[in-house]
Amino acid sequence: MAARIIRRSLPSRLIQAKAHSTQAEVQSKPSNPKTFSIYRWSPDAPTKPQLQDYQIDLKECGPMVLDALIKIKNEMDPSLTFRRSCREGICGSCAMNINGCNGLACLTKIESSSTASTMITPLPHMFVIKDLVVDMTNFYNQYKSIEPWLKRKSPPPAPGKEIPQSKADRAKLDGMYECILCACCSTSCPSYWWNPESYLGPAALLHAHRWIEDSRDEYTKERLDAICDEFKLYRCHTILNCARACPKGLNPGKQIQMIKSKQIVKGL
Ligand code: SF4
Ligand code: F3S
Ligand code: FES
Repeated sequence: MAARIIRRSLPSRLIQAKAHSTQAEVQSKPSNPKTFSIYRWSPDAPTKPQLQDYQIDLKECGPMVLDALIKIKNEMDPSLTFRRSCREGICGSCAMNINGCNGLACLTKIESSSTASTMITPLPHMFVIKDLVVDMTNFYNQYKSIEPWLKRKSPPPAPGKEIPQSKADRAKLDGMYECILCACCSTSCPSYWWNPESYLGPAALLHAHRWIEDSRDEYTKERLDAICDEFKLYRCHTILNCARACPKGLNPGKQIQMIKSKQIVKGL
């Protein structure tokens, strides 16, 4: 049977649809128990998405949400599906929604002081492939569309040599080059929710500005022209959810405002 891709439901709906799995819960009562309610949906058994509860002993688990997910997958339910790689906030693959906020599971501490369960769902308003794994195709295509590489009209100073950049010009890239393309910002932006195909979203626009601002790049005007569009750029209404969601402490909304200022200066 072909895999059916569905849109992720809102958390409030999920709470209503919550299903308690007796099979997955531990048999003996742990000494420091914590319940994780995790979004489950599989294309192999396409029923309504559900929240499945798993109770683990925090005394036998690392401090981060990703530690809990790995423990659940290794010891309780190998069918639980999520992405992760570096385990230290570098690869961006473990982005998900934890207790209503987008973030990286490997950088988010388990709330050990609270007895309330921790709810984990996929990134909002994305198509779900399975459990916590979402389809990033549109997000990556938008990133690709801003041509995220150095573009030159003139040849380099010498064949095989670097193109020099002053320390001051290099410093202008701070706050942008650190982005790990986790999509926490774009999937927290209401404008992106309503126009995911036509609005580039905060992550792609942050990268657009990274190349517009790069002193070595010689396609600044062309880059500004390419995104000077009612939908691609101007769907940003300065809501700033993006800055709040970014696990790397970046402010995509500020970078978008700087692009808009440059559009005015250039009279585009
Ligand atoms: Fe992730 Fe921040 Fe980059 Fe957005 S700006 S993709 S939240 S690292
Ligand atoms: Fe969205 Fe951030 Fe703009 S939340 S509307 S991209 S400031
Ligand atoms: Fe790489 Fe979390 S596993 S950022």
